[in-house]
Amino acid sequence: MKVAVFRKEHFNAAHRLYNPNWSDKENDQVFGKCNNPNWHGHNYELVVRLIGNPDPDTGYVYDMKKLSDIIREEVLIRFDHKNLNLDVPEFKNLNPTAENIAIVVYNLLRKRINDDLDLKVTLYETERNFVEYPAG
Ligand code: NI
Repeated sequence: MKVAVFRKEHFNAAHRLYNPNWSDKENDQVFGKCNNPNWHGHNYELVVRLIGNPDPDTGYVYDMKKLSDIIREEVLIRFDHKNLNLDVPEFKNLNPTAENIAIVVYNLLRKRINDDLDLKVTLYETERNFVEYPAG
């Protein structure tokens, strides 16, 4: 009887992909334009998936208004229109790739959502490039 429910959200953010232990040349080789010292931005699409049994009283797997509020409070307020490297403490020493952003988002949401619900985060960095965490 398990059902998956999804909430889609959006945020804009700037970042720079950079490994401080590498030379500028190595960073350019690996990260290319994403290593631009003056930053660049993305229109991120975030999809949050919960899997659980519909509640017998409400028929809901989860109250989607509540899910929307949690995503706003934990992710959008922190990330939207921000520079991820400079404004978001989680990325102070963590390269803000789509992979790492998805892990950070998952951890922020996981502490607000009961463990009996399966949680997955899908993050689109562009229309064609997206990641999911946990994988599989
Ligand atoms: Ni980028």
